Amino acid sequence: MTAFKTLGQFIIEKQADFPYAKGEFSRLLRDIGIAAKIVNREVNKAGLADIIGSAGKMNIQGEGQQKLDVYADEQFIAALRSGGECCVVASEEHENPISIQSEVSKNAKYVVCIDPLDGSSNIDVNVSVGTVFSIYRRTSTSGEATSADILQKGALQVAAGYIVYGSSTMLVYTTGRGVNGFTLDPSIGEFCLSHPDIKIPTQGRIYSVNEGNYRKFPEGVKKYIKYCEEEDNETGRPYTARYIGSLVADIHRNLLLGGVFLYPNSSSHTNGKLRLMYEANPVAFIVEQAGGKASDGVQRILDITPTELHQRTALYCGSTDMVDKIEEYLQE
Ligand code: AHG
Ligand code: MN
Ligand code: MN
Ligand code: MN
Repeated sequence: MTAFKTLGQFIIEKQADFPYAKGEFSRLLRDIGIAAKIVNREVNKAGLADIIGSAGKMNIQGEGQQKLDVYADEQFIAALRSGGECCVVASEEHENPISIQSEVSKNAKYVVCIDPLDGSSNIDVNVSVGTVFSIYRRTSTSGEATSADILQKGALQVAAGYIVYGSSTMLVYTTGRGVNGFTLDPSIGEFCLSHPDIKIPTQGRIYSVNEGNYRKFPEGVKKYIKYCEEEDNETGRPYTARYIGSLVADIHRNLLLGGVFLYPNSSSHTNGKLRLMYEANPVAFIVEQAGGKASDGVQRILDITPTELHQRTALYCGSTDMVDKIEEYLQE
């Protein structure tokens, strides 16, 4: 029986590496882990609980909110509020950041940007969904958090992670010292270390893109897709197309096997569809820490200076050699 290591044990063990070692960060990750287990419970019985289907409201994105979007959002905000380590949460599901200053968290140091339920279109059809989050240190020293505390470049994240509610439920995160994956053992209700020090292969054979938008893509993307589909023994082409439609699940598969995810800007999404602050930045941090690359086709995702909380970006993310190839075609 191999000795297992829980997320809590791992964080404490690694805490010495973390510059803000006084335990606040450990408690913050613990709070996120607790909410993840609660959301996982509902995801696993979605068909039985009254938790599938539409919540009957639109969110700021102009999307019809699913019940699970609202439920997950409530659970993560509640966990962060009670944990006391986070001063403000910026969520996909709310137009404005939510201050969670309270007696418990009056000198909380962390800012969390979160997509509480990623892949909403997959909820009702039992396909993997996820949660994805970024963690920053507040830059202001006291009082209510400001927009400057939130609109920080991705390169300033102190941590980022995702939970994928799939055939098993995994939490994958980085604090800038590599990437580690934990699988939820439901029999003990703990996330246990299952994928230490994840590294993404520099070259893969999987490309993930919604080819239904092909005709709206930039020419360089069209050329890259044709490149993937050409026959070439030396480079192992044609590659394999895999697209789940949940960013977290597509990124997770490519992280483990190698591959590239593309969500280009297009004539219908001039700035791309994915949101910088709580989708592109966290997955970019994780993929870079695993040895991969993430760009908007021109610049490093983590170098983009945000101006709006819900701003969107094109995203090309995964095995370094594959992202390089896409950039080559885009810059022709
Ligand atoms: P969300 O469900 O949080 O709104 O995110 C959905 C995103 C992302 O998960 C996925 O990669 C992308 O939308 C899929 O978009 P298309 O359905 O347009 O391919
Ligand atoms: Mn959404
Ligand atoms: Mn999402
Ligand atoms: Mn979402």
